[in-house]
Amino acid sequence: MANQHYLICICFVLAFSYASCVQTVNGRIKITVGTTSACIDTINFFRDQLVPTYNLYGDFLDLEIVPWGRTVRHDNGTLTCQFGENDCWANRLHRCALNFLRGNQKAQLDYMACELAPPYPAYRQASFACVQAAGISIIQADFCVNNPGSDTLDEDARNASIEPMAVINFVPSIVFNDLPDRDIHLQAFRRLSSVVCFALADDPTTGVTGCQI
Ligand SMILES: *[C@@H]1O[C@H](CO)[C@@H](O)[C@H](O)[C@H]1NC(C)=O
Ligand SMILES: *[C@@H]1O[C@H](CO)[C@@H](O)[C@H](O)[C@H]1NC(C)=O
Repeated sequence: MANQHYLICICFVLAFSYASCVQTVNGRIKITVGTTSACIDTINFFRDQLVPTYNLYGDFLDLEIVPWGRTVRHDNGTLTCQFGENDCWANRLHRCALNFLRGNQKAQLDYMACELAPPYPAYRQASFACVQAAGISIIQADFCVNNPGSDTLDEDARNASIEPMAVINFVPSIVFNDLPDRDIHLQAFRRLSSVVCFALADDPTTGVTGCQI
């Protein structure tokens, strides 16, 4: 078993020339993605990497999305977001919607994919179109987005993003199994499906084979 891990790691090192291993935990991989609504790298990552990878391997993935990015919270409680007030508002709506959809990660991913594709409803249009498409009550979403003091969503996201941003310093930040690592983040940013496939193939219980770089 240990030998097998070792061999796969060697393959990975040869393939990427710098690499550590992502491994399954009880046959699954947790992926935490830190996002911000107006970030082109986040938009491209969702479209080109995360959604296709989820379509292939979603049964083995525990996905957590943290819409916080590089947001700074001032002592007076106000937030400053990387792309301004619309970015803050959209991120807040994303947090609200993800919370309403908790327990259904496919719905969460579909919702975020909607927000991160043209016309970027929350960010560009301050629109609830994706919220509505996800089957969330607009009245509840409107209350949530306008009453940040009524819950701990901001605080939770801020806490969840501190360590990834300190280690990775990039949006989107990609973390496997709660262990932030900049090299693994970089691999995943370029070819998430390969990183996930090799990790799953390394665990015979998954039955996954035939990974490609
Ligand atoms: C809160 O603090 C920030 C940073 O000091 C400042 O830019 C902002 O105007 C303050 N907002 C309010 C409502 O006091
Ligand atoms: C966020 O982290 C701070 C400092 O570790 C902690 O005191 C606070 O309870 C955390 N908040 C939440 C909502 O987890």
